[in-house]
Amino acid sequence: MRVDWKAVRRQFLLDPREIYLNAGTFSALPRPVLEAQQRLMAHAEGNPTRRGARNRLRPLWRAQRRVARYLGADPEDILFHINVTQALNQALFSHPWPKGGEFLAGDLEYGAIVNCAREVARRSGMSFRVFPIPREPRSEDELVEAVLREAKPATAGILLSHVISATGMVLPVERLGTALRRRGVRLVVDGAHGPGLVPLKLGSTDIDFYGGNLHKWFMGPKGTAFLYVARDLHLKLRPHVVGWGGVETDPRKHKVHDVKGTAWPFQYVFQFQGLYDACPFLALEETLRFRRAIGETNIRRRIAALIALVRRRLGKELGLRERSPAPEFSAGLAAFEVPGEFAPYGLEEAVFRASRITVAAWKDAPGRTLLRVSPGIWSSEAEIDALAETLGRLLR
Ligand SMILES: Cc1ncc(COP(=O)(O)O)c(C=O)c1O
Repeated sequence: MRVDWKAVRRQFLLDPREIYLNAGTFSALPRPVLEAQQRLMAHAEGNPTRRGARNRLRPLWRAQRRVARYLGADPEDILFHINVTQALNQALFSHPWPKGGEFLAGDLEYGAIVNCAREVARRSGMSFRVFPIPREPRSEDELVEAVLREAKPATAGILLSHVISATGMVLPVERLGTALRRRGVRLVVDGAHGPGLVPLKLGSTDIDFYGGNLHKWFMGPKGTAFLYVARDLHLKLRPHVVGWGGVETDPRKHKVHDVKGTAWPFQYVFQFQGLYDACPFLALEETLRFRRAIGETNIRRRIAALIALVRRRLGKELGLRERSPAPEFSAGLAAFEVPGEFAPYGLEEAVFRASRITVAAWKDAPGRTLLRVSPGIWSSEAEIDALAETLGRLLR
């Protein structure tokens, strides 16, 4: 099927006077998804108690089943969250880590989640260590070996991203999950950029925890994410937020068996921890419909083609030093070193002021300013040309 990408673009609410090349922070939302969410909210406000709270649990479970199918997971192993930060906090703070053990994080991990892992290690009496990840791997084996050689007998858990936020590098988390499980090490995956960008079959992996955002590449409403928890952990976790479900997750001991539309106390204990707006999660079904109408393969190919164009225009033609690994080891995001005096915020602002283009920028560890470009399916070749032209002028 050939996709009319101009027609796809018209389904987004993006300001036509601007260029949005930062899907890696927040995706733009397709109009049908926004409209579904608005309809759901208006309906709920007709009777906030009955329609907004009580009767939301079964539809929520239905949305959860459909999203889980997309993720290749059993819905019982998925918990909805408002973002990955909260999802991974729940995973890390609920797990009984061994006192005196060691927790590791790769040195390209996202700051907020590193903060969480470091604090969990401190409170659990574990040491915390950051180890180097290859920047320009030549093979998947090199990445796997770089992680496995760090796993020592005291290592209890490792935090790794599926897709590195700074450069778009994809880590072989499925292979790592299997290898680490054999060594008794829990793999905690920060999948902020996974769902919607790279195919997932979570239920067929040995990954222990996977926190994924649905408000980035998946194109769900803002405030949608999930936590996947491997089945053998359900009985081991203890919630750090305790609500009506209490703390007992053993179905043999739990008083409620058909819990609010789900069949498993794990959901009751870890997900129903107080009232919240279910509408963004219910509207995820519309995102699934939107994606299906375009086709997953078409979406992935489009992003790959746009990012290849970004790399050609900014890297090969403009001469900016590429900081993303070879295309076969990366997805969706491309990073470049920017010469000169620009501080990250200054660069973002300068690009926006010059041509109303939104991109992301920050400093790497040695203090160089990096520019990150992440087009969405709404982006066009002409918009990427406009970015190259703008940078050419600004950096002259
Ligand atoms: C790798 C990575 N992890 C975690 C996050 C945090 O996501 P959120 O703010 O939705 O919790 C981000 C956000 O950009 C990210 O890139």
